[in-house]
Amino acid sequence: MRVLSGIQPTGRPHWGNFFGAITQYIALQDADQAFYFIANLHALTTVRDKELLAQYTLDAAIDLLALGLDPEQAVLFVQSDVPEVSELCWLLMTGTPMGLLERCHAYKDKKAKGLSADAGLFSYPVLQAADILAYDSDTVPVGEDQVQHIEVCRDIAGSFNHKFGEVFVLPKSKVLDSSARVPGTDGEKMSKSYNNTLDVFDAPKAQRKQIMRIATDSRPMEDSKDPETDVLYQLYSLVATDDEREAMAAKYRQGGFGYGDVKKSLANAAEAFFAESRARHDDWSARPDDVRDILASGAKQARTKAGEVLHRAQAACGLKGY
Ligand code: ADP
Ligand code: TRP
Repeated sequence: MRVLSGIQPTGRPHWGNFFGAITQYIALQDADQAFYFIANLHALTTVRDKELLAQYTLDAAIDLLALGLDPEQAVLFVQSDVPEVSELCWLLMTGTPMGLLERCHAYKDKKAKGLSADAGLFSYPVLQAADILAYDSDTVPVGEDQVQHIEVCRDIAGSFNHKFGEVFVLPKSKVLDSSARVPGTDGEKMSKSYNNTLDVFDAPKAQRKQIMRIATDSRPMEDSKDPETDVLYQLYSLVATDDEREAMAAKYRQGGFGYGDVKKSLANAAEAFFAESRARHDDWSARPDDVRDILASGAKQARTKAGEVLHRAQAACGLKGY
């Protein structure tokens, strides 16, 4: 059973990315054979700055390693280091109906806003299909927003198989637990685009400052409050131990506490929760060549598999044996 997922390198991870996605991908590395890659070809549709894209790509690898991706368990690589995927993409592009791609949301949303889209954004789902099919992936863990792309991948693979024989494994999406929706410092969904994030790798002091800024209501000190509906408590639950969480919930129900105390507890719990990852982040950041070695060795393994599948597909549609 092969698990595969791609993560776009678009900047520093926040708590929403971590609890909503990264930690859930990483948890699958133990159960199955896992392939994780940094989707820099996809990021090229939005990041149009040479230095930034290169930096984000290395940073994404460091982040994943710091957050627990074990390169002994999972194969970690950069998408563009496996050129077989781009070759396979062309092969899939022929035979992909325009209408299928016109319905895909990234392109559709951009068009609806009156913005001009390029051919890269339009064919983004075909490259994603190539990513998945190149490794005979069975399971693709993704957020809700990516389910449409997995369906497109199944359509493309299904019609290729129908025409040329059983070449591709049809993947299934594994939708990540969306109950892990993390609120931001303003109570809305945490997102880079809302400027309300708590970043995983901020230094403790900077993180403490951010936490102190979280918006709270003007509840009188003596009133009790339902913890589950409170942003501070929701964030605290993510980083506290079970005992700490229960004690805090009891405090909310009892009343007579100030939000300042909760913020301090949240900052302390967050510092402890991310301490190990932060130390690993410092460690990997100090030896980028070791990270590059891991990526190179991952790409080598990925290319072996992708080469096999590409050959199978080429042979099936008449590109070999002339
Ligand atoms: P952003 O909204 O900050 O741009 P992305 O869209 O890049 O985040 O999200 C990358 C991954 O992180 C997606 O799988 C998404 O589902 C997950 N994610 C982002 N924000 C949150 C959040 N607030 N709660 C839970 N998961 C999130
Ligand atoms: N499009 C995905 C995202 O934005 C990233 C991605 C690229 C991906 N290729 C993939 C995810 C293949 C799963 C499988 O999050």
